[in-house]
Amino acid sequence: MNVTFYGHSCFSVEINGSKILFDPFISPNPKADDINIDNIEADYVLVSHGHEDHVADAEAILKRTGATLISNYEIVCWFGEKGLKNAHPLNHGGSVTLPFGKVKFVNAVHSSVLPDGSYGGNPGGFVIESDEGNFYFSGDTALTYDMKLLGEFHKLDWAVLCVGDNFTMGYEDAAICANWIGVNKVLGTHFDTFPYIEIDHSAAIEHFASKSIELTLLQIGQTVSL
Ligand code: NI
Ligand code: MN
Repeated sequence: MNVTFYGHSCFSVEINGSKILFDPFISPNPKADDINIDNIEADYVLVSHGHEDHVADAEAILKRTGATLISNYEIVCWFGEKGLKNAHPLNHGGSVTLPFGKVKFVNAVHSSVLPDGSYGGNPGGFVIESDEGNFYFSGDTALTYDMKLLGEFHKLDWAVLCVGDNFTMGYEDAAICANWIGVNKVLGTHFDTFPYIEIDHSAAIEHFASKSIELTLLQIGQTVSL
């Protein structure tokens, strides 16, 4: 499946002809100036939690594309009040089977207030299972023992893990997570956008490599096939 990085925590993954967009935060990101949100196609928009740096462009993209929003119940209701009714709410441990595959909402250790101060429910991550492969999108989270369950009960091929430290796990904890969930290919996320989360790319990549895990830190706008 083709995976495109749009900066910060925003990725687009194409599975079985469906375009799934995660955590759209592009127009307020000065590092993503070259990306025009009006050119991004989406059939589904998955939102891990309510923070501005994960939802900023969701409303515009959902309205233009008519994509289905998938998030926790509270975030789905918040967008519903903006007239965006094409949505599917989940809560932790729950999953939904869609035409491209199965989406499960899993635990994250973080916080989740929405940009206007509304309650954003509890933050999560996603496990996606399809006949083109299985992956885990961590969202913003600390390293947590719950991740061991993902490795035990899901056959994951790769993962998108936060590596920026300060607000989420850093790359050392992310490498432990990768080991626990049983993947040897990781795309890093939540790094470099703000001074608090700037990382040393070669140190992060070398740390993962020392554990026989390939960490890729994509350029904004770059697409890879996984
Ligand atoms: Ni956050
Ligand atoms: Mn964040």
